Amino acid sequence: MAKPDFLKEHLNVWWLRPEQALWDAVASDVIAKEPVRSPSLDLGCGNGIYSFIQAGGSFGPGYDWFSNATASGFRKNKDSYDVPLAVDPADHIARKPRMRFDFAFDHKQNLLDQAARLGLYEKALCGDAQSRLPFADGSLATVFSNILYWLRDPAARFAEIGRVLRPGGRALLCLQDPRFKAICESYQWHRRRSELLRLLNRGRDVCNLWTASLPEIKAFGRRAGLRLVGHEGYLSVPTLRFWDVGLRPIFPPLLTMTQRLSPAARAEVKALWIETALPVLEEMKRVDAKDPRPRGYHFVVLERR
Ligand SMILES: C[S@@+](CC[C@H](N)C(=O)[O-])C[C@H]1O[C@@H](n2cnc3c(N)ncnc32)[C@H](O)[C@@H]1O
Repeated sequence: MAKPDFLKEHLNVWWLRPEQALWDAVASDVIAKEPVRSPSLDLGCGNGIYSFIQAGGSFGPGYDWFSNATASGFRKNKDSYDVPLAVDPADHIARKPRMRFDFAFDHKQNLLDQAARLGLYEKALCGDAQSRLPFADGSLATVFSNILYWLRDPAARFAEIGRVLRPGGRALLCLQDPRFKAICESYQWHRRRSELLRLLNRGRDVCNLWTASLPEIKAFGRRAGLRLVGHEGYLSVPTLRFWDVGLRPIFPPLLTMTQRLSPAARAEVKALWIETALPVLEEMKRVDAKDPRPRGYHFVVLERR
């Protein structure tokens, strides 16, 4: 199968937030190169849509996930996607993913309910990734996760992943380098006493508990019986600067405007929006690839000894 056009796929879902579509497309190009072997776990899968697209899945143009989103918690820095299932993604699957994860794991049942509809996961488990994971020692071949920096005590999290992986099993991890918070200026609002940066950050800093350089990641791995066998930096300076602002600050009126349209008008606007945004984002993705500076994120592959 030809490599999916990740930018088009992510933009079809994240159309009102193009900066997130760009991020996810850049990430998918890097992460999708690494095979996922069974038994496998998507740790902190959320609603599963990112992993669904990365696994080659595709939604039709009629899938408008934002019709289900809410901006009511915007002032309290709540996530717009953290909502119960209303639009069933299963009704809009145009292409099934080419692989499946055995387990989806997240602490939010409403997100797992959506993930369970994608045909991507054999089993959805709700629990706290800060505690002991509900898997036997050495029982998994792959753990994919993009949430470790949301969790306290990185050494304990690495140890837990090391425990559940079998010898030769691999952890595929997305991790923040300290550079991330230097590039995304809004994360410096507190130190710089900047109201503007605080408004732009909207509480994202509260979820991002730690960063690690590559030598630090290697050291965490080593202590957990995990050897670094692959690494790629991703998310360039221009991509992250765009993402740090994007359309996030004006999201409530944007969402409200689109939610007041009739279904037909909404579909028309969505198509025009994507047609307009796609060439710009494609060029941004080329700029991302060419930027010579070190990236803000690490994608690492760690193998259990
Ligand atoms: C950045 S999102 C990642 C979602 C998806 N994997 C992706 O890459 O787009 C972080 C996810 O971690 C979950 N999460 C945060 N803290 C958690 C915890 N203590 N236990 C389990 N899941 C958690 C959140 O519910 C959310 O779905």
